[in-house]
Amino acid sequence: MAARFFSLFVFPLVFCALILLALSIPSFSSPVHLSSPQFLGKFSRRPTSSNKLPVKRYRYDVRYFDQRLDHFSFSDDDPRFRQRYLFSSDHWTGPDRMGPIFLYCGNEGDIAWFAENTGFVWEIAPKFGAMVLFPEHRYYGESMPYGSREEAYKNSTTLKYLSAEQALADFAVLVTDLKRNLSAQACPVVLFGGSYGGMLAAWMRLKYPHIAVGALASSAPILQFEDIVPPETFYDLVSNDFKRESTNCFDTIKNSWDVLVSESLKENGLSALTKTFGLCRELRNAQDLVDWLSSAYSYLAMVDYPYPSNFLMPLPGHPIREVCNKIDNASDGSTILERIFEGVSLYYNYTGDVSCFELDDDPHGMSGWDWQACTEMVMPMSSSQVGSMFSPYNFNLSSYEEGCRQSFGVSPRPRWITTEFGGHDIKMTLKMFGSNMIFSNGLLDPWSGGSVLQNISDSVVALVTDEGAHHIDLRAATPEDPAWLVEQRATEVRLIEGWLNNYQAKRLISDM
Ligand SMILES: *[C@@H]1O[C@H](CO)[C@@H](O)[C@H](O)[C@H]1NC(C)=O
Ligand SMILES: *[C@@H]1O[C@H](CO)[C@@H](O)[C@H](O)[C@H]1NC(C)=O
Ligand SMILES: *[C@@H]1O[C@H](CO)[C@@H](O)[C@H](O)[C@H]1NC(C)=O
Ligand SMILES: *[C@@H]1O[C@H](CO)[C@@H](O)[C@H](O)[C@H]1NC(C)=O
Ligand SMILES: *[C@@H]1O[C@H](CO)[C@@H](O)[C@H](O)[C@H]1NC(C)=O
Ligand SMILES: *[C@@H]1O[C@H](CO)[C@@H](O)[C@H](O)[C@H]1NC(C)=O
Repeated sequence: MAARFFSLFVFPLVFCALILLALSIPSFSSPVHLSSPQFLGKFSRRPTSSNKLPVKRYRYDVRYFDQRLDHFSFSDDDPRFRQRYLFSSDHWTGPDRMGPIFLYCGNEGDIAWFAENTGFVWEIAPKFGAMVLFPEHRYYGESMPYGSREEAYKNSTTLKYLSAEQALADFAVLVTDLKRNLSAQACPVVLFGGSYGGMLAAWMRLKYPHIAVGALASSAPILQFEDIVPPETFYDLVSNDFKRESTNCFDTIKNSWDVLVSESLKENGLSALTKTFGLCRELRNAQDLVDWLSSAYSYLAMVDYPYPSNFLMPLPGHPIREVCNKIDNASDGSTILERIFEGVSLYYNYTGDVSCFELDDDPHGMSGWDWQACTEMVMPMSSSQVGSMFSPYNFNLSSYEEGCRQSFGVSPRPRWITTEFGGHDIKMTLKMFGSNMIFSNGLLDPWSGGSVLQNISDSVVALVTDEGAHHIDLRAATPEDPAWLVEQRATEVRLIEGWLNNYQAKRLISDM
């Protein structure tokens, strides 16, 4: 597979064709594309790419479990792989007291990184006398089939076992086996997850009700499929986060794309842009810069936390406010692109130790999420003319499919997720069949638009915060936590307590 998947459905050839189109048809709206946002994008390979975690805050054992690679076939010589999982029984009250098991559904990255960034689970475990388990998602971190990442990511033959269904089966098999080993069959399992991990937690509660008594699904966009939510939702939400800080900032960003493209078309334009933006290497086309800027804005919206944080990048509290201050407050006479540079530097160079910017530190690495997006995780995204500050773009399934065939030799199945897990008419479904689920969302998070934002029943509950961002409730408590966040976490604890009490009461009756 030689094709380079440099960003979802943006390919150099397409870009050249579009530039020509743009030149010959002046009315064509914009010659640059908007690439599909990823939950974590290039960050998802942390910490294996840098091979270090800042500090290990929580105590756990690292264990490995022998899994079958294909849960849905029956051949004895099917390959197997080693799934990593993090385990702590420090506070577990054990089988006799039906001590609960808190299972975090690993998502698209190194599980140790998620464990460090999911302080909530560690912090509430002692109160519940809970065991803590963080199983890693297959094809990420150390849980690689075929012996290495290179082999596992070789082509569609080796990648075909990378799916949400297989990952859920991994979690189910692992926790069932572990419970048997510990004679803990009666211990209730509570699922946790953020982002894609939150989707897995919600889906696992629905698919494996005999394995888990409840799920906290934080920032889980289980409705970001097909036409369930409008395709403009994500970028409109990112844009609103900027607009609420400053309309001038929103306008500056919105106007910057055309300026950027026309600069790039000038003689030596790409060199000039390379200088303006402090890039390490000569810019090859405007699209790469557009991708780099667009990702920064999307990630900023995800991590627009009210206090300083270091999830994707080291950032101050209210980072969008800070970026907009830079953009609005650049010295008089700054050009629009200089303003944009000032703003985006806050994201990419907050610590001030970046000597030049690499637009793409991993040009040949195909991420596991690209594969997932090209198979079942088809989340249509568009950028609207009016509400969005990004360059206008209409989601185009045929070009999306074309990109996937070029990159992986596969055709996406846009209707599979809703067939497998539901999504249409979710209220009705969850009302009739669901229970013990929390969908928590912060409205600053652009993924919130694809999640469940309304209470559905007494036990399928939406916790929505106006000022929250991407799964902030799962992060460790800090002294700077605003009252709404403290309250949100207290509600989550209370609801989980209710599930467990209810389970234990029913269990005692049925044992009699
Ligand atoms: C993927 O690579 C393996 C091993 O090199 C090969 O046997 C297989 O045919 C390849 N599959 C595709 C779809 O190219
Ligand atoms: C359960 O015990 C068996 C035998 O010691 C071991 O191979 C397996 O890995 C254990 N399961 C888990 C989930 O650790
Ligand atoms: C703009 O910059 C000046 C000088 O650095 C500062 O005093 C002022 O507070 C800034 N304004 C905003 C809106 O950030
Ligand atoms: C990063 O910030 C430092 C400190 O402000 C500055 O000296 C450096 O030039 C910046 N790097 C880039 C690539 O702009
Ligand atoms: C969608 O993409 C296909 C293939 O790239 C192209 O032929 C078609 O014109 C596009 N449709 C729209 C509405 O832009
Ligand atoms: C849903 O119900 C819970 C109480 O169980 C409440 O705290 C929450 O605010 C409600 N959510 C919405 C979106 O109304």
